[in-house]
Amino acid sequence: MTRARRGPVAGAALLAAASLAWGCATSQPRSVLDAAGPAARRLENLGWPVLVGFLVTSAVMWLLLVWVARRRTGSLAEHAPIEARGGGRWLLVGGLAIPAIAFAEAYFATVYTMGTFPMGHEPEGPAQIRVVGRQWWWEVHYRIGGLTERFVTANEIHVPAGRPIDVELESRDVIHSFWVPRLHGKVDLIPGLVNRIRIQADRPGTYEGACAEFCGPQHARMRFVVIADSPEDFRRWLEHQREPAPAPATAAALRGRRLFEGAACATCHTVRGTDAKGTVGPDLTHLASRRTIAGASLTRDVATLHAWVANAQSLKPGARMPNVTQFTGGELGDVVTFLEGLE
Ligand code: CUA
Repeated sequence: MTRARRGPVAGAALLAAASLAWGCATSQPRSVLDAAGPAARRLENLGWPVLVGFLVTSAVMWLLLVWVARRRTGSLAEHAPIEARGGGRWLLVGGLAIPAIAFAEAYFATVYTMGTFPMGHEPEGPAQIRVVGRQWWWEVHYRIGGLTERFVTANEIHVPAGRPIDVELESRDVIHSFWVPRLHGKVDLIPGLVNRIRIQADRPGTYEGACAEFCGPQHARMRFVVIADSPEDFRRWLEHQREPAPAPATAAALRGRRLFEGAACATCHTVRGTDAKGTVGPDLTHLASRRTIAGASLTRDVATLHAWVANAQSLKPGARMPNVTQFTGGELGDVVTFLEGLE
């Protein structure tokens, strides 16, 4: 490389690093540096100084490297003898003092931030929501109100905006990790242990989440969303979810419901108000009020439901949802009509 090209190359590397960091930090639906609630903001306040410190340190290191590379040029014979002595101050200051101060600051800031999370300590009453990790979807139990008002849903967690909501986390199979970057840091769901976090979204909106702990072949399709509603919308949503499934509105939907109840579907899924009472798969009572299926990895619509019922294994290999091939003729269409009617 010629001397004239080193400057632009170093500059381009710096620019690339800076734009990468900027791209990670802004306008990403899952950016930890775009907090939307108090818990995530504490982590953001920790993340920004560390990121800036890292970038500044990297820039200084690159400048030093470029400086060293340019310092002595020429043939081997022209080189001055290498100075073995000296440079002690460089080592003490640059190699010991500055890193010690930087790491100590990051350490104490991290420990302090960790201490501000009310995780599992002296819970003030039962949590409003319990999230159970399953391979590979999220079972969500709402415990707001009396015993008869409780219900179960999946993958889409509604919360009232501007209010703290306590969430209990546990697992039914392997270790998962609950992560909504804009609302809270990662917290594991561990079989036999209940973790507890407090999430709050300052404003109404949809916040994307994902499982953040490798939990099997479909780990990447174990997503979810937290939907923060205005308090009135949340109350309406809650009341609607407490209702049993709506009665089939058409003859096709009624046929679909009977097929669903008589097929393997009912042994795995619950649809409240019908004979389907299985607990292996997600509760489908208000499936059509959700935007997604299959661990929030697929958009819910008629075509996707057709494909999912008949061919789940090609869409999500290894999932516990089998290919349901027993429906013939228009039966599959009827079942999907029934499912799409579960508003
Ligand atoms: Cu559950 Cu990864």
